[in-house]
Amino acid sequence: MRLAHRLVLASSAAVALVMTIYGFTIIRQRERIIGNALVRETETLAHAMQIVANSAIRNGQRAPLDRVLGRILGDPETAISAVLDTTGAVMAGGPRARMACLDTIIARPGPVPERHGWSNCGGRVRLIVLPLQEPAEALVVARRTTVMDRDIAESRRSILLTSVALAVVGSLAILIIVRLWLTRPLLEILEGVHRFGGPDEPQPMRVPRAAHELQKLARAFNGMVERLDAKQHVLARETEERIALERRLRHAELFAALGRLTGGVAHELGSPLGVISVRADAIQSLPGADPEARRHAEAIGREVERISALVRDLVHVARRHGAGRDPLDMRAIVSETAGLLEGDAERADIRLSVDAPDHPVPVTGDARLLRHALYCIVLNAVQALRTHPGPRQIRIELRAENGGITVAVEDSGPGIAPEDRARVFEPFFTTRDVGEGSGLGLAISAGIAEEHGGEVAIGTAALGGVRAVLRLPLAARRSVTDGTE
Ligand SMILES: Nc1ncnc2c1ncn2[C@@H]1O[C@H](COP(=O)(O)OP(=O)(O)O)[C@@H](O)[C@H]1O
Ligand SMILES: [Mg+2]
Repeated sequence: MRLAHRLVLASSAAVALVMTIYGFTIIRQRERIIGNALVRETETLAHAMQIVANSAIRNGQRAPLDRVLGRILGDPETAISAVLDTTGAVMAGGPRARMACLDTIIARPGPVPERHGWSNCGGRVRLIVLPLQEPAEALVVARRTTVMDRDIAESRRSILLTSVALAVVGSLAILIIVRLWLTRPLLEILEGVHRFGGPDEPQPMRVPRAAHELQKLARAFNGMVERLDAKQHVLARETEERIALERRLRHAELFAALGRLTGGVAHELGSPLGVISVRADAIQSLPGADPEARRHAEAIGREVERISALVRDLVHVARRHGAGRDPLDMRAIVSETAGLLEGDAERADIRLSVDAPDHPVPVTGDARLLRHALYCIVLNAVQALRTHPGPRQIRIELRAENGGITVAVEDSGPGIAPEDRARVFEPFFTTRDVGEGSGLGLAISAGIAEEHGGEVAIGTAALGGVRAVLRLPLAARRSVTDGTE
């Protein structure tokens, strides 16, 4: 049952109880007052009649006495008005038939004693019996309580009506007050609570214009929302940090394993690859060599170059704990990397632009590694654009700000599918065809950046493709080399 209905029920019950007690008291009081008035009136009438009767009997004037008593009996409120003689017969008074209860009230034979009290004569009556001179014996007067009964019934009715009206008005007033002061602000608070559980960002609720306690409740809720929000943020940050840490750990483990592997593999592969490459060149330049053999030799040379490039990548990974700590100007690294890929870009009809400040951008690190990290990033952009229709553009932007440097590489290529975005840093993750990509590029770049206290982030470029950002800490300005070997 609703709160408002409960309150209305309770208040109606309270009003009904109060009115019942009040009505009972009032009716008892009225009964007493009207009863006393009836008693007094009957006493006065009886005593007046006693004087009149005594004088009439003394003077032998029965007829006027009869008339007076008859007239009194004519009043419907009078039940008995008679003068009895010593035998019990009615000496004077109204017709005996109208005083049917006279015999039951006055016990015969025997003397009739004086009486002042209540009796029954077709209803309650006030009975007075007064002695008279002989030959009469007694004057009997009985007045009905009809008027008093009617009055009391009326009082009862009006009290009942007042009670009902009071209960209705009181209930309505309570209903309105409860709605305004309790139900409405409570519903507002409830709505705020529901909103909190909804899909939107948790928001503090509007404190309702209501009783102090309800405002306190809303404020307490808002306090709780704020605390929860803060905790949620802390939790989200901690989760992010944990994920990043896990990623770094995974990388570290993998790099360690790769390092051990590549140390040996690179060493073992290096010399035979060198030999194969030299021999392939030699076959190609053999005077009078069969053109078919030359083509094969050329293919062998190309494939060997690809294997050598992979081996170089692996060597970079293997050596990551040996990065140098030289003072460098990042502008040199950027322009050299761009220079390395300029030819590739041109062949693929790609417009490659570099935007760098005109003052040195100092970083501390290993020039060769940093160049390689940036090379992998720009190469990805070149590869993404090679087969991409529409304008092909790569923009490399170097900036130094807030104690760090950023090299943003933006391209107008197809971008990275959302489902791949989380995986591009995984070593060996690639979407390129076999032979085109090893899936090591971004893993190596990220590894090198981390080793330099920085990071690589992938986002969406204004040009429509990928925006890959290499971030590094800015070194204190001091003598800077251009990093060339
Ligand atoms: N600029 C880019 N545009 C589109 N896709 C990219 C870009 N850079 C990286 N990727 C995606 O990230 C994957 C991983 O890149 P990477 O680690 O360099 O390996 P690889 O280039 O050998 O595939 C790529 O296969 C490609 O799907
Ligand atoms: Mg790559």
